[in-house]
Amino acid sequence: SAPSPAELLELARTIALQAGAFAIEARRAGVEVAATKSTPTDIVTAVDRDTEALIRTLILEARPDDGILGEEGTSLPGSTGLEWIVDPIDGTVNFLYGIPAWAVSIAVVARSEGARQWRALAGVVVNPTSGELFEASEGGGATLDGARIEANQDVPLSRALVATGFGYAAEKRRDQAAIVSQLLPRIRDIRRMGAASLDLCAVAAGRIDAYYESGLHAWDHAAGALVAAEAGALVTGPRGGAADEEFILVAAPRLHAELAEALREAGAPA
Ligand code: IPD
Repeated sequence: SAPSPAELLELARTIALQAGAFAIEARRAGVEVAATKSTPTDIVTAVDRDTEALIRTLILEARPDDGILGEEGTSLPGSTGLEWIVDPIDGTVNFLYGIPAWAVSIAVVARSEGARQWRALAGVVVNPTSGELFEASEGGGATLDGARIEANQDVPLSRALVATGFGYAAEKRRDQAAIVSQLLPRIRDIRRMGAASLDLCAVAAGRIDAYYESGLHAWDHAAGALVAAEAGALVTGPRGGAADEEFILVAAPRLHAELAEALREAGAPA
């Protein structure tokens, strides 16, 4: 029979914790840029690849027929309608520099073959440096280290602490700089912490009020978006499409509406 979201969450948690411990250990042995991807600043380290390989092995041991999509190239179609969406190290630049804000992000989604859309069933985001574990299952709420978390409600735009990211493409960065320059005078402040999955979980935990970014990939947001949604935030944007099509905006409903309008006024496709 099909596993429940709670069962999938438990497996995702076990695998993410193991992968996090592996990445911490591997970092101790030394880390350097192995290659660049979309741009010279879009980097990958050997640890990203090795951690993804470990996660893939652990998933296939437990669920050999599920699909897997990973940031570092894993793309297995599977035959169960369940797909694991994996970012072995989200926040690779932080990982490289030793800034303790990188995460292992694993989501399990229901997606029929070839479909763009999915339904997230379970999501885990682990920050191995701090040991913090964010998780959610569909309809089961969101937790941080086992305790319920909730997004901040009823924060007016003028008092909103808003996280964002800049992506890697030069054009996107120029657009974002223009958007931020218009938004910044209207809000409490901006944060650029460097790992999308942790930004989403920070909204869920009420550590920031909102988060938006353009150009994310599925692996950046699949797990964190479920955590944020289950914590009472409204998540709009991710459609499972190409990275360029995604403009993700996450906040409790009232702020979401106000921020979406402000972002549109600043020229963002919110
Ligand atoms: C990146 C981080 C970053 C975000 C980028 C992502 P990666 O993921 O989440 O915060 O701004 O858009 O690509 O490359 O470190 O896994």
